[in-house]
Amino acid sequence: MSQQATYLINIDDYESAAQAKLPKMVYDYYASGAHDEITLRENHAAYDRIKLQYRVLIDITQKTLKTEVLGHEVEMPVLIAPTAFQRMANELGEVATARAAGKTGTIMVLSTLSNSSIEEVVQAASFPIWFQLYMYKDRGATAGLVKRAEAAGCKAIVLTVDAPMWGRRERDVRNRFQPPKDLTVKNLMPAGLEQFPQDVADSGLAAYIASVIDPSVTWKDVEWLGANTKLPLLIKGIVRGDDAKRAVDSGVAGVIVSNHGGRQLDTSPATIEVLPEIVDAVAGRVEVLIDGGIRRGTDVVKAIALGARAVLVGRPILWGLAVEGQHGVERILNILRTEFDLAMGLCGCTSVEEIQRDLIFSPPAISRSHPLPE
Ligand code: GLV
Repeated sequence: MSQQATYLINIDDYESAAQAKLPKMVYDYYASGAHDEITLRENHAAYDRIKLQYRVLIDITQKTLKTEVLGHEVEMPVLIAPTAFQRMANELGEVATARAAGKTGTIMVLSTLSNSSIEEVVQAASFPIWFQLYMYKDRGATAGLVKRAEAAGCKAIVLTVDAPMWGRRERDVRNRFQPPKDLTVKNLMPAGLEQFPQDVADSGLAAYIASVIDPSVTWKDVEWLGANTKLPLLIKGIVRGDDAKRAVDSGVAGVIVSNHGGRQLDTSPATIEVLPEIVDAVAGRVEVLIDGGIRRGTDVVKAIALGARAVLVGRPILWGLAVEGQHGVERILNILRTEFDLAMGLCGCTSVEEIQRDLIFSPPAISRSHPLPE
């Protein structure tokens, strides 16, 4: 075990260590949210407001954390969310993350905006890789990405739908964010769309997105995509019950409740607060997953109790990757696993299926009609 691992005991410790190690522009890019970062903060703060009303005197000696997500068995209901440009954190980037996911027994979602190719990442993986997709204006390039993901052996496509325009991350604007020149959007090389515009007086990523990502995407395109891939399609970026229902009616295999880690529309609600509405709207027809703000094992219990099949973590993976490469990602996942195991046990649950809504404490309403004590 490395020396660092002896004192970095939780995700916040890893974030502090990553911040100390990474160039400011890179840390800010990973950490930031849109505008005043209200949604960014709320995503986690909302978990802190939820209280767990645990059960006692249940034999928890035999516990299992395993579950199934879209038919794949995983060691725990914690998956890796797509995050862009991982080679800014570590020289092996997405390849190191994929190896760590395999070692820990969970699914990794690979971003379109990765510095490693789909093929390299799938080759390094020993657990399923799902491919996250942005719809490019160049539909040929989009279809090409889907075909490559299928041919490489990805097990699902995850379409991000919360970014028809790029959220304004003011830290990136101030830093004039540009990834180092040698780090390209490698998957877009065949389409000639891998380079960022240079010398922009703003965020280079925002300029790139505005030039290549299609703002005209509608539900028709979701149906087009579903019809043009043999892989299950998940939709990511849903925060409303009616949209979730529409997604299911469009044939998706799963809904990911997400506000893009607070990086798109600031003041949109925390994902955990809208999860119950979405779970109710979907009514068990497809699996519901959630990301945003998960930093503790208790957060995982809360999301499952409110109806999520599993959670995805994004930034924590980047902190682990920045501090200790593949080992750091494994540490992050193992910290979450240990904390989740403890939280589950202390709630009186021996399996993921036993984590139900009754664990979520709802305080009795205080009404004026109740007589006040004398
Ligand atoms: C990429 O998806 C980003 O939010 O920067």
